[in-house]
Amino acid sequence: MLDHTLPRAGVPPWDMLPWPAYLHLVIFVHRVNGLTAGLYLFERDPAIHDRLRASLHPNCLWERPADCPEHLRLFLLQHGESRRVAQAISCQQEIAADGAFSLGMFADFAPTIRAHGAWWYRRLFWESGVLGQVLYLEAEAAGVRSTGIGCYFDDLFHDLLGLSGDEFQDLYHFTVGAPVEDRRLTTLPPYAHLRR
Ligand SMILES: Cc1cc2nc3c(=O)[nH]c(=O)nc-3n(C[C@H](O)[C@H](O)[C@H](O)COP(=O)(O)O)c2cc1C
Repeated sequence: MLDHTLPRAGVPPWDMLPWPAYLHLVIFVHRVNGLTAGLYLFERDPAIHDRLRASLHPNCLWERPADCPEHLRLFLLQHGESRRVAQAISCQQEIAADGAFSLGMFADFAPTIRAHGAWWYRRLFWESGVLGQVLYLEAEAAGVRSTGIGCYFDDLFHDLLGLSGDEFQDLYHFTVGAPVEDRRLTTLPPYAHLRR
């Protein structure tokens, strides 16, 4: 799943965004086989590494998980369960805590806006939307389900990581896990209102 979030030239949907990855992932790993529960960082562009190391909490572990493929820049920042804080950050929504993992997408923010102009604010959200679409598809392919989470407390997320100022900015959250059918809702086939 992480591999498919990496931009590659000529590979959809990433060929739609003609810029390097400005968004990176902080992953709350709850229940993933082969990975200890904890807080992880996934750098979608290695060029961000030194600036992130200088900005994140000094007590972050920066450990590479065993057997992690070399090209996946996944780092364990903090051991231990992060379900409660994941739920709190996502406006107390249980779906952020009760699945396999949830994540926050944060942007290399102020430098990008300063370099390109304020209109890039929207483009950073486009990147988060494409990431969300990829994750929706990857979750289905892995036999689980997922939900984009647009209700989150960015300040709480920044505090957890030790981020201050606007160099980096939380933009969107996402959660992946086994589905629980909500029987209060009626599900119709797509375009059920159209005559065939
Ligand atoms: C930008 C965005 C933000 C969302 N935020 C949340 C959220 O905070 N909590 C939640 O349960 N679902 C959230 N969703 C998921 C929607 O509730 C819904 O599951 C999804 O849009 C599919 O529903 P539909 O098939 O009825 O369109 C979000 C979806 C999008 C696109």
